[in-house]
Amino acid sequence: MSAPKKEVRQIALTSSKGNQEKWCEDGRWYKLDLFGYEALAEVLCSHLLSKWEIPFRAVPYHMEMLTVDGKLRTGCSSPDFLMNGQSVVTAAQLLRRYIGSDYRAVMAGLPSDKQRILWLADTIRQMTGLDDFGAYLTLLFEIDTLFANDDRHLNNIAVLRTVDGGFDYCPIFDLGAALLSNTQVCRYDIAPQALLSSLRAAPFSMNFSRMMHTAQAQFGVHLHPDRSDIEDAIGAVLPCLTEYYPARDRADITDRVKAVLKARIVLFR
Ligand SMILES: Nc1ncnc2c1ncn2[C@@H]1O[C@H](COP(=O)(O)OP(=O)(O)OP(=O)(O)O)[C@@H](O)[C@H]1O
Ligand SMILES: [Mg+2]
Repeated sequence: MSAPKKEVRQIALTSSKGNQEKWCEDGRWYKLDLFGYEALAEVLCSHLLSKWEIPFRAVPYHMEMLTVDGKLRTGCSSPDFLMNGQSVVTAAQLLRRYIGSDYRAVMAGLPSDKQRILWLADTIRQMTGLDDFGAYLTLLFEIDTLFANDDRHLNNIAVLRTVDGGFDYCPIFDLGAALLSNTQVCRYDIAPQALLSSLRAAPFSMNFSRMMHTAQAQFGVHLHPDRSDIEDAIGAVLPCLTEYYPARDRADITDRVKAVLKARIVLFR
């Protein structure tokens, strides 16, 4: 990735966005930072994923400095991935439609986390005809484990509905909560290791490694992160991304991101 150029996009000077923190404009989706350095997390994670061969597409994110209603805000953008009348259907919507509004109780009633993972993979496979949905879910869990993303709730797992009434795999989106980006909860004065050990993996509130290994045992290994790509990104990309944040936070963000990636890559040996 070439170093992202820091430029201010005059995005919403004429059309008020009110409190809207994400929107689609001219073929791109924009998201503003809310609790910390979400945009940096999106961009760094998507940059790393672009380096590795993965069996499903991941959304590429780009840093943005946006003037929204007269205020300068940091955010990110991604190209609209919907084509030819496709729409996004989230796992929560699918389960509500096919299992009923008590789908959470159905999942909670299963005897183990392993059963819940297998049930989710198999139920969505059956509903959509996407035979590799187990592999797709496993890749999501691998990515979330590597980047410490604890926000994989059932609206951040989705499929695409196509105009012919069929389904397709949704490009992997929303790693904004990764890398301990929520600095209101993950305060800079708390050691990254302590923060990491208190994180639970969504959507089943599990230990990350256990969730990943359970899915991998059933559906195979799909993410092969390369340590040198991570080191390169920390050296060459991260400094450009921290430029979008106040100077006083840059060293903290850098230390934090390095610590997360260093702690998580060892889970992939
Ligand atoms: N690049 C994109 N192309 C098409 N649709 C998108 C794109 N980015 C986001 N969306 C739409 O916006 C929804 C929310 O996106 P996303 O999960 O990234 O936002 P968020 O604010 O982080 O959400 P949350 O905090 O609720 O998890 C997606 O489910 C999708 O419908
Ligand atoms: Mg989301």
